[in-house]
Amino acid sequence: MPNFQTVRGMRDILGEEAQTFTYIMSKARETAELYGYKEVITPVVEPIELLSAKSGEEIRQRMFIFKDLGERTVALRPEFTASIARLATSALKNEPKPLRLFSVGSVYRYDEPQRGRYREFWQSNFELIGSNKPEADAEIILLTNSLMKTVGLHGYAFKIGHIGVIRGILSKENVDDKTQNAILQHMDKKEYEGAFKLAPTDKCRNKLEGLLQLKRNDCFETVENIKSYVADYEKAKVAAENLSDVLKLIVESGCPVQVVEPAFARGLEYYTGMIFEVYIPELDIALGGGGRYDRLIEMFGGESTPAVGAAHGIDRVALALQMQKTTLACKSGKRVLVLSVNDSLKGEALKIAQQLRISGIIVEFEIMGRKMAKALEDADKRKADFAVIVGERELKERAVVLRNLAKRQQHIVSIKELAEKINS
Ligand code: HAM
Repeated sequence: MPNFQTVRGMRDILGEEAQTFTYIMSKARETAELYGYKEVITPVVEPIELLSAKSGEEIRQRMFIFKDLGERTVALRPEFTASIARLATSALKNEPKPLRLFSVGSVYRYDEPQRGRYREFWQSNFELIGSNKPEADAEIILLTNSLMKTVGLHGYAFKIGHIGVIRGILSKENVDDKTQNAILQHMDKKEYEGAFKLAPTDKCRNKLEGLLQLKRNDCFETVENIKSYVADYEKAKVAAENLSDVLKLIVESGCPVQVVEPAFARGLEYYTGMIFEVYIPELDIALGGGGRYDRLIEMFGGESTPAVGAAHGIDRVALALQMQKTTLACKSGKRVLVLSVNDSLKGEALKIAQQLRISGIIVEFEIMGRKMAKALEDADKRKADFAVIVGERELKERAVVLRNLAKRQQHIVSIKELAEKINS
């Protein structure tokens, strides 16, 4: 007999975990609605050229790539941003700006599987297209804050940086784009020695190394340090000022503790400005992250369009909720088993079941043909609140027997009042 297993890095999501996933997705969708983001659904499979352009070496090497039967080289999406940038240059090209777009779904990366790291995982993704203002950057962080809060997480913190500071230094030190990208990849992984080794001159190396000394507990102090540290680097200075503007907006609007990391870089290559990640103290992997990417849309053949966005790892948010032992604030209706005492009443029983569902009651119908006692015992095990027993005698009076399974008490209740009695 074959013993089928899931592919390495992919998993079945069952029971409570599946419930947590749908809960987080519904909270992400609610957040999208509250911030005015419209949902878009894009394909899981995209042309390799789209996905590999500007995503960066890190992601390019970890994509699931294959040829379809038409000999096209395609890949499973490793993220949403490229697909959304494509939309911004095609179907949504003429839409008035800003565009606020939300997506949720599975993404695929050939990462080394471990806790919180899978090859198939889920993201909720927000993109804000058409503004280069700090309030757009702030909005993306604030909606991430709203999402973390509304799912029930506590103690989370934002790590913020600005890729323009590092790139500003590197450009002035005449480091070519390819080397810049390689340096940033190392810095993303905190492999600072590897990063600094690639600096072409001692001056450049020292300048990069010095970034690590600028961090203070107070985030505004850190930004001031960065500003004076890069005073001779025009682009880096502008970047630091922009970071300061974004930070002020976030703090003034009440977002929790910020850590500004001067040497912070992210794996994706398309970032041009503010970058951030969100963490809880119990986990050392990011629950979400994002940043500004002002040149991607233009690279895809669109007009020059500034943009900023973020994605949240649903698997990791679920893990975080579990670690913080958060009880989900799910709206859950009463659970009921509906059964009839004999076959001839099944139609009537089904009709009553439908009416209860319309009133928001969760109804399981007895479909195993079991004897009454067995069915009731099973309903109790499945944590149903009530059983609705449809019998001939009561039905003549347009009534049924309503049994409270926990209390083991039952009453005759008219069908008209049944939903109200169950919900009360
Ligand atoms: P990212 O940082 O690559 O950004 O991924 C966002 C989040 O996805 C991470 O913070 C993490 O929670 C989750 N994640 C990443 N890799 C894995 C994995 N192997 N297993 C489980 N969860 C994972 C992006 O994807 C960008 N597209 C975000 C963005 C949107 N930037 C601008 N717009």
